[in-house]
Amino acid sequence: MNSLCLFLLSCHVSSAVKHSLKYFITASSGISDFPEFVGAALVDGVLVGYCDSSIRRAEPKLDWMKELIKKDPQHLEWYTQKCSGNQQVFRANINSLKKRLNQTEGVHIFQRMNGCEWDDETDKITGFNQYGYDGEDFIALDLQTLTWIAPKPQAVVTKLQWDTEKPRLEHNKNYYINRCPDWLKKYVKYGRSFLQRSVLPSVSLLQRTPSSLVSCHATGFYPERAMMFWRRGEEEIHEGVEHGEILPNHDGSFQMSVELNISSIKPEDWRRYDCVFQLYDGKEDIITKLDKTAIRTNWGETGPLLLLAVFGFFIWRRNNNGEITADFTPIMNLEFMHVVLYVLT
Ligand SMILES: *[C@@H]1O[C@H](CO)[C@@H](O)[C@H](O)[C@H]1NC(C)=O
Ligand SMILES: *[C@@H]1O[C@H](CO)[C@@H](O)[C@H](O)[C@H]1NC(C)=O
Repeated sequence: MNSLCLFLLSCHVSSAVKHSLKYFITASSGISDFPEFVGAALVDGVLVGYCDSSIRRAEPKLDWMKELIKKDPQHLEWYTQKCSGNQQVFRANINSLKKRLNQTEGVHIFQRMNGCEWDDETDKITGFNQYGYDGEDFIALDLQTLTWIAPKPQAVVTKLQWDTEKPRLEHNKNYYINRCPDWLKKYVKYGRSFLQRSVLPSVSLLQRTPSSLVSCHATGFYPERAMMFWRRGEEEIHEGVEHGEILPNHDGSFQMSVELNISSIKPEDWRRYDCVFQLYDGKEDIITKLDKTAIRTNWGETGPLLLLAVFGFFIWRRNNNGEITADFTPIMNLEFMHVVLYVLT
């Protein structure tokens, strides 16, 4: 969790804007009432397109993406075809993995995250393509060497096989150097006013039971680059504080929370504690006083967090120093009001 804060902090101080186009595919077996194949496209962390094995077509989300599709229906057609093609491929992948790992039953999940990032100041492009299986990193493409990296022994067979598929590797390379950044730039152009807006969230204090942590929950903010912390007086506190992930809302905004253990805070000290929310530009903070009367306790059944279906997995990549770093990437889809909290550590 701390790495996330550091990551956000570094975003916070940097003025360059990095745009991203990310595709997430989740193929599953053994989960009833959930489509065996779900695909999502995110621009700057915002869901702009969706498809799954029950609707059987790609759907644009958000008005500006619908506008783009209206002008270029072929674009949607491409996605719909990819969606159905990948469905076959991923079903075959998951079946062959299960077979190889002697897994006959139970829930299994095979995921891919791929896409590219574009720094609009330096024009630098970074591509990525990585797979996870049952919540763990499985295999990733190293675009420098055009070879697959297998962090786990069970992926080595796949690596050796995929390394021989030269046309696919070349196709990947071309995709990450050309098509992905072209499309990302096109999306950023269409979505400019939406993607460049800044919106402050509404912030509330929530507590499940009297002995639970007090959660300061912000929802509806944009962009994703934001920070939240607890402070005592003027000083940020770390002890007894738990930072939550930033999660996307279905309307293209984000939510996050930061929790505070209040068990050792004396009643007369309460008023010295504030929860602070800061959007990336730091222009306007939202300060919420720790106040017993302001804490909502009846959010258990209908509260905002339970409306989420979150899928995610750890993505790992080599940074410039050759180190492998990991981020947790959640994907949410409100189409399915099931709570599928697939947390993977
Ligand atoms: C799967 O089962 C076969 C036969 O029982 C065995 O030889 C093989 O080592 C097993 N593979 C794994 C990955 O456990
Ligand atoms: C809060 O802190 C106390 C004292 O350190 C600890 O015993 C308790 O388990 C913590 N509560 C939660 C919900 O983590």
